[in-house]
Amino acid sequence: MTAPRVIPHHIAIVMDGNGRWATRRFLPRVAGHKKGVDALRACVRRCGDLGVGVLTVFAFSSENWNRPAEEVSGLMELLAMALAREVPQLQSEGVRIHFVGDRTRLSEKVRSGLAQAEAQTAANTRLVFNICFNYGGRWDIAQAAAKLAAQGAQITEESLNGAMALAHVPDPDLVIRTGGEMRISNFLLWQAAYSELYFTDKLWPEFDAAALDAAIADYGRRERRFGRTSEQITAPASRKAA
Ligand code: IPE
Ligand code: IPE
Ligand code: MG
Repeated sequence: MTAPRVIPHHIAIVMDGNGRWATRRFLPRVAGHKKGVDALRACVRRCGDLGVGVLTVFAFSSENWNRPAEEVSGLMELLAMALAREVPQLQSEGVRIHFVGDRTRLSEKVRSGLAQAEAQTAANTRLVFNICFNYGGRWDIAQAAAKLAAQGAQITEESLNGAMALAHVPDPDLVIRTGGEMRISNFLLWQAAYSELYFTDKLWPEFDAAALDAAIADYGRRERRFGRTSEQITAPASRKAA
């Protein structure tokens, strides 16, 4: 597979469509989530191979608690199982795992699995892998503001940025959403201010290395202007400062 030319430093993904993937096959929804773990494994590997610096995935939102109890407990079980099974391989591939989200509502078993995965991979530097679990963009902004308020700190863009759950990485360059919905669903509200957005109808379990390459190739054709004009972006460096 030929690699895309321009590689975003930070890719974030809303992994949507597991349930529909399963339902279309007359399988229980949890079977789709299991298949989603396979897709995620391949995605992490491809990101590492391409030289992506940071991969952030949305695995469970603050709102996903509203799903049927059976699906919620299935997702919790799957997280605990996937951690136990996948961490040794991720460790050998140089992946550093971070959990991003509100851990207080998670079971002791899940919480200790998360802490262990983070500790085991803490020295890795090849790829930073953020797993957003019980995460919501509004939760993150509110917890950052609360933290600053408790410290009596001033609230500025910089101080808020530094108090956010993703303060350890730069903002995502590319946000991908699979599953055909064109919405953000409370993901990275603060950090995606200037991300390039890419939507695909492919369901998450079908999103393979070639699909990731296609998203990255699309990103390579974008012009990121950050408020400037196109002429300012394409002008020679000497004129850019004006
Ligand atoms: C995304 O897939 C995974 C989670 C939200 C945990 P869905 O489960 O939302 O799949 P669809 O959207 O119902 O197909
Ligand atoms: C977003 O997917 C959350 C995750 C992928 C974890 P949802 O399927 O929960 O989003 P909505 O509810 O359709 O917007
Ligand atoms: Mg969905």
